[in-house]
Amino acid sequence: MKIAVFVSGNGSNLQCIIDNCKSKQIKGIEISMVIADRVCYAIQRANIEKIDCVIVDRKEKWQHDIHLLLKERNVQLIVLAGFLSILDNKFCSLWKNKIINIHPSLLPKYGGKGMYGLKVHQAVIDNKEKESGATVHFVTTNIDEGDIILQEKTAVKEEATATSLQELIHPIEHRLLVKSLKLIYAKTQSTH
Ligand code: GRF
Repeated sequence: MKIAVFVSGNGSNLQCIIDNCKSKQIKGIEISMVIADRVCYAIQRANIEKIDCVIVDRKEKWQHDIHLLLKERNVQLIVLAGFLSILDNKFCSLWKNKIINIHPSLLPKYGGKGMYGLKVHQAVIDNKEKESGATVHFVTTNIDEGDIILQEKTAVKEEATATSLQELIHPIEHRLLVKSLKLIYAKTQSTH
């Protein structure tokens, strides 16, 4: 199954998919393309692995072109791995049930517009939550509201800061993303 990974930042989730595909922990999945919406370190990670990478210009109408490109390459699943642009309604419906996103909170809590990066973890701390975690979910037109694929919890210590929580949750995201990809791939095989 060919996938495309959409990125905006450091790309540690992208790296995790790359490493797990290489070590065959994830079987049957190949990263066909990386799509970046800005210059970011994730592009370098793609370059090192010789994975084709496109940097889109957010000022342009890029989603239609990317849709055609991904179809041409027979991409079956899109993984948003720290992708900060909002995908429009048309793109989301064309790729219904074929886009997944990793979010660093226990959705439906702390999701939606403006909830990304440290802001998520700060909100968790401000609300004195006892637990947080990460969620992998399908992407719909409503931000962070699609069906949940997998979720993992962790306790929030009293002395936790937004940064320490981010560090704690990052490895959870990586684990969850790998598990989710395995699950999705297994489902495509059982329906054949
Ligand atoms: C992660 O926290 C992810 O949950 C969020 O963006 C961050 C991306 O991290 N959507 P990285 O670029 O994969 O390191």
